[in-house]
Amino acid sequence: MGNPIKYLVTGASSGLGGSVLATLYNNVSDHSQIAAASSRPEVGFQLQQSYPGIQFRKLDYNDPSSLVEALQRVERLFFVSSPLVDTEKRNKQHEQVVIAAVEAGVGHVYYSSLAFGGYGSESTASVQQAHLVTEKLLENSGLSYTSVREGVYTDAFPVFLFWYPNTTTIYLSGDGPVAFASRDELGEATAKLMLRDPASLRLKNHIALLTGSRTYTLTDVVNAVSDATGKKLEIKRVPKEEFPRIMSVEDALEGRGGKSEAFFASWQSLVESMEKGDAAMVDPLMGELLGREPRDAIEYVKELVKEGADKGGYTWHQNYS
Ligand SMILES: NC(=O)c1ccc[n+]([C@@H]2O[C@H](COP(=O)([O-])OP(=O)(O)OC[C@H]3O[C@@H](n4cnc5c(N)ncnc54)[C@H](OP(=O)(O)O)[C@@H]3O)[C@@H](O)[C@H]2O)c1
Repeated sequence: MGNPIKYLVTGASSGLGGSVLATLYNNVSDHSQIAAASSRPEVGFQLQQSYPGIQFRKLDYNDPSSLVEALQRVERLFFVSSPLVDTEKRNKQHEQVVIAAVEAGVGHVYYSSLAFGGYGSESTASVQQAHLVTEKLLENSGLSYTSVREGVYTDAFPVFLFWYPNTTTIYLSGDGPVAFASRDELGEATAKLMLRDPASLRLKNHIALLTGSRTYTLTDVVNAVSDATGKKLEIKRVPKEEFPRIMSVEDALEGRGGKSEAFFASWQSLVESMEKGDAAMVDPLMGELLGREPRDAIEYVKELVKEGADKGGYTWHQNYS
C-alpha cells in the first residue's frame, strides 16, 4: 500500500490532465500530496523530473489490478476520460476505473465529462451518450463524485472543421453555437475545483459545467482561420446524406486522417446536436474558478494558427481509426 495521496491525476501526460497537474503543483505547497498517473512508467520518470517532489503511480484502464493498487489511499482523483473512440471498449475501461475506485475507497472522483446538453442528460450526440454512461456508473457506484463537463476544446477546432493546414475548402453539413473553451484553461479550472472542499460544492446533479463565456459557430471559426492565414477558405454547405461520402474521399488525401465513411456518418449526430444548441450553454463557473474571463475562442484560434504556421502548420490528431 503506497503513501497517502491527496490529489491523483490520471492522464497526467495529456493536454487536459497536464494542465490539471501543473495547476495543482502551483497551488499546493506540499508536493508529495500530488501524484501523477500514467499507463507508461517512462512518463512517470519525465513528470517527476518536471515536477520535483510529486509521486507517481502506474495505472492502466485496461488492467483492473493496476487500478485498484494505484488508487489506494487517494483522497481526490482526477479521472480523465479515455481517448478511445470505440465506445464499447471505452465504456469497459471506465467501468473498470469506477469499480476500482470503489474497491480502493477513493474519497472523491472528478470525471472529465463533456459539456453537450449543459446540465441536462438529453443530448443525443454519440460522444455525449458515452459520457452519460460513465456518469450513470458513478451515480450508481455510491462514490462521492463530480462530473466536470468540460467545454468543447477550442484547440480541437481542426477536428470540428476537418481542417488541415493545406485545406482550401471546408464542408459543413450543419452549424450551431458552441461555447468553446481552451484546453489549458479547462484543466486549470478543473484543478481549482479540486482544490475546494468537495463537501462545500453546491452543484446541480453533481455537474460542474465549464464553458467559454460566449458562443461561436463553426462558420465563425472558419472565418477566423481565413483571417489568420490570409487565405480565404471556401465553405461548401452539403446535405447531411452526402457529408459522410464527401468527407471520406477528402480525408483519404495524402497526409490526412483516412477516416471512414462510417466515422463521418456517426459524426453527424454531433453536428445535429450542435445545431440544436446542445453545446451553446454558457456558464460563469469557469471564469469564477479561473478568477478571470476565459480566453476568447476566436482570438485563440487565430493565435494557434499563426503560431502553428512557424512550425509547419497547426494540427490536431485526426487519425481516429
Ligand atoms: N472536450 C473536448 O472537446 C474533447 C476533445 C477531445 C477529447 N476529449 C476527451 O478529453 C480527454 C482528455 O483530453 P486530452 O486532449 O488531454 O487527451 P489526450 O492528450 O489524448 O490524453 C489522453 C490521456 O489518456 C491517458 N490514457 C490513454 N489510455 C489509457 C489507459 N489505458 N490507461 C490510463 N490512461 C490512459 C493517456 O495517458 P498515458 O498514455 O500516459 O497512460 C493520456 O494522458 C480525452 O481522452 C477525450 O476523452 C475532449
